[in-house]
Amino acid sequence: MCGIVGYVGSQEAWPIILEGLKRLEYRGYDSAGIAIVDPSGDILLRKTVGKVRGLDLDDVESHPKGTIGLGHTRWATHGRPSHENAHPHTDCKQRIAVVHNGIVENYLELKRQLVESGHVFESETDTEVLTHLIEEGMDRGLSFREAFRRLGRTIKGSQAISAILQGEAAEICALRLGHAGGIVVAYRDGQAIIGSDLPALLPLLQADSNMAEVAFLETGEMVVVTPDGVEYQDLDGNHIDKQQRMVTQEEVLVDKAGYQHFMLKEIMEQPQAVASAMRERVNFETRRVELPEFPLSAQEIAELDRVVLIGCGTSLNAAHVGRHLVERFSGLPAEAESSSEFRYRNPYIGPHTLVVSIGQSGETADTVAAMQMVKDKGAKLVTICNAEGSQASRIADGTLYMRAGIEIGVASTKTFIASLTILNLLAIFLGQSRGVLDTAKTQELVDGLTQVPRLMGDMLADGAVYQHLAQEYVGYDNFLFLGRGMNSPIASEGALKLKEISYIHAEGYPAGEMKHGPIALIDQGMAIVALAPKDSLYDKVVNNVKEVKARDGKVLAVLTEGDTALAAEVDHALYIPEAAEHLNPLLITVPLQLLAYHIALLRDRDVDQPRNLAKSVTVE
Ligand code: AGP
Repeated sequence: MCGIVGYVGSQEAWPIILEGLKRLEYRGYDSAGIAIVDPSGDILLRKTVGKVRGLDLDDVESHPKGTIGLGHTRWATHGRPSHENAHPHTDCKQRIAVVHNGIVENYLELKRQLVESGHVFESETDTEVLTHLIEEGMDRGLSFREAFRRLGRTIKGSQAISAILQGEAAEICALRLGHAGGIVVAYRDGQAIIGSDLPALLPLLQADSNMAEVAFLETGEMVVVTPDGVEYQDLDGNHIDKQQRMVTQEEVLVDKAGYQHFMLKEIMEQPQAVASAMRERVNFETRRVELPEFPLSAQEIAELDRVVLIGCGTSLNAAHVGRHLVERFSGLPAEAESSSEFRYRNPYIGPHTLVVSIGQSGETADTVAAMQMVKDKGAKLVTICNAEGSQASRIADGTLYMRAGIEIGVASTKTFIASLTILNLLAIFLGQSRGVLDTAKTQELVDGLTQVPRLMGDMLADGAVYQHLAQEYVGYDNFLFLGRGMNSPIASEGALKLKEISYIHAEGYPAGEMKHGPIALIDQGMAIVALAPKDSLYDKVVNNVKEVKARDGKVLAVLTEGDTALAAEVDHALYIPEAAEHLNPLLITVPLQLLAYHIALLRDRDVDQPRNLAKSVTVE
């Protein structure tokens, strides 16, 4: 959460930083700000409450001039979204400007000490202590770099920090501590950009070459960038040789490709996401699953005695589907739990426990902490994630990358579908490796999976039906999504999508649990979305639908094509193509996403950047 961009070089820093902030806005949009060192050496600040566009000036000539600066787009943790709490923060004399992503856990104690020694604070943020700490260090005679580096030994918590100094120094310092918030650095031909994420680097890739070398800071590493080059250090000031990686413009370039929103574009990319997740993992000749990245030997797979799947939000919903798939195909006991709960338990983790973490970003603080905990306990640890080089991929013994391409919409869509695809592959792989699935069964499962991109593509070909249904249901303020078995977590995912982008109250519930309480809610004002594909639990869901209809509930059912019988009993129906049971979660997700999207549009919501959310939650 929070986006950081810094530029130093020969060009005007303002437009480069502004563009970077716009590209990082998915990380938070409570406020934004830019600090520029002008030609006389003064730090000029501009801030806005709300989105980055508030910094856009009609008159391009009136933005602060200078070739070094820092920008920030904020997701508020300490202190409400306000002008005072917007970053960059400066010290008493406005000599230093700081931007920050994460939490200074000991800031109250530090602030008390700083106030006692005469520092005056202007914001409610934890970040502001950083500016005063640097100031204090410099007042004691330390250089800017040295004072900045000492933050690493003074503050507690996980964070990324960057700072600039007034005057002619033309240097940006950045530091990474712990697992929250990465920093990526690119330098080319006398210009450097630092950013929280790759899209911030785009201006450096738009010049004559569309490639640049980048490096990602590890925890406990600091970088100083100047027009003359880049210097990496550890917290003691020792030089570090950083490995560089080449990135292309395509890797960092994200646009809407003509769609109204990133979310819609990403929904439309889902057939490709499924195909991409299967690439080189399905052998189309033998029709078996091959997972070359899977870190366990055949012996270790045979010895596994349990699988635990963890994640948060949408990734938790994927974990719950994964539990069903693993149980069904691998013969192993499996459980799924929220990382934020799991990390604070003392779960039994043995040497033969496989833990699978799921996360689009690979940076979710609770998931990363839970991974670290199970690693310390000796579990075998695999992560399914989309972001290359993420914390999760560095902690895990092996990474199954989603390969969905960057996802900008704050509501996860294609990465959920990619997660489900990989969980299918993983469950089949474990089953085939452990001899639980025979060749014929494995081939049947694999064949089914390979049909999904086509089936999904057909479903996405006509969006009119979802627009029409959105008009029917936009007036409801309460939704209950019901599903059973593998589709129960899909009910939760449908409800999560609707609530996060439309702000409508929605709950996902196992359909069989409805009669134990939620049924009391059902009246004409409650919309029910019943997931009733033709599967082994179909008859049970039909009973649940009848219970709702008997109480005047309005029912929109997601049915398998051709199910005219149940369609006749409900108010509206959406259809998925006929498919094997384990593929229904993938297919049912699509109409639920589109329903949520169109309802949110009709309610005039900010679909790509819904209020209060951020794309990756790097605080606890
Ligand atoms: C989903 O639409 C949300 N953006 C959110 O629940 C998200 O899935 C959650 O924060 C976990 O993120 P991760 O997948 O990056 O770990």
